[in-house]
Amino acid sequence: MPENPIRWENNTLIIIDQTKLPEELEYIPLNTVREVWDAIKQLKVRGAPAIGISAAWGVLAGLRENPPADTAAALRQAQETAEYLATSRPTAVNLFWALERMKKAAQAAADADSADTFFERLEEEARAIHEEEIASCRAIGEYGKELIKENTGVITHCNAGGLATGRYGTALAPMFLAHEEGRSFQVFVDETRPLLQGSRLTAWELRQAGIDATLICDNMAACVMGQGRIQLAITGADRIAANGDTANKIGTRGLAMLCAPHEIPFYIAAPSSTFDMSLKTGAGIPIEERDPDEIRRGFGKLTAPADITVYNPAFDVTPAEYITGIITEKGILRPPYTGSIAGLFNG
Ligand code: MRU
Repeated sequence: MPENPIRWENNTLIIIDQTKLPEELEYIPLNTVREVWDAIKQLKVRGAPAIGISAAWGVLAGLRENPPADTAAALRQAQETAEYLATSRPTAVNLFWALERMKKAAQAAADADSADTFFERLEEEARAIHEEEIASCRAIGEYGKELIKENTGVITHCNAGGLATGRYGTALAPMFLAHEEGRSFQVFVDETRPLLQGSRLTAWELRQAGIDATLICDNMAACVMGQGRIQLAITGADRIAANGDTANKIGTRGLAMLCAPHEIPFYIAAPSSTFDMSLKTGAGIPIEERDPDEIRRGFGKLTAPADITVYNPAFDVTPAEYITGIITEKGILRPPYTGSIAGLFNG
């Protein structure tokens, strides 16, 4: 697991360029707000919590790029930058959650005696977001590791590891911690078409940690389940509605629906920042549609007629009824979710 895939160093945001993995582990600086926006859009930094953390630091990058003359200008600029970064991707609610926090912190810092003090106050908020997300992932790992018994076969989809979060991950955190305790288990990693976050990123992270990982194409999951080799499924989430309906990487819904007839428990792992209490059900979750060429010519090779019509939703919504439990930093939520999720925020 990479120790610090997102860093704020010498007033510069530094990220691992996830599009280069697994061939190259390259840290790149993001010097301008436009570079932060592009990095999120192009999935150089991706995964719901990682997008939120990067956007929070992106607000600081904006203030560094064009140093404001006074506090009033700094406040205006911070708000404009936050609004601009919010247009980078639509589905992961962590992005909007983190930017709302930055906007509130900016409002609260409006009484700062200088633009420098204003900057320091916003820096504190971005650091708090970053550290809280890492602490939440660690806690998710502590709760979730109990689900991984000796010799369990676990399946996961997409990448919900350290790369996607800042450290530990959400779905992968229980695996890292169970492995640290010396438990032996096997992870089946869905390749995750079309952008291969499973094979490029999750397989890489698990290998780095020395965890027994086996890569499968997405369409092999049913076969492997039928062979009795999987006892548990855990994925991350990009947005969870108040009733537990969950948006995650395209293919998650299919995986969850396969688990039911095979009697395999299907868990979502996510911090509080991934819940959207303004949405009663998953029907209102905005689903990003991406460039058709990600499917027609993935990674530069034409694999379909160049002008074929393509439908490329990046996420799907898994109905709450297929979810056995939601592993959060405060414990594992169980159905009925409307009550247990409300308790997460009120209790
Ligand atoms: O398009 P991506 O790669 O950003 O999609 C990421 C996912 O779907 C992850 O599973 C999710 O963000 C959880 S990350 C802890």
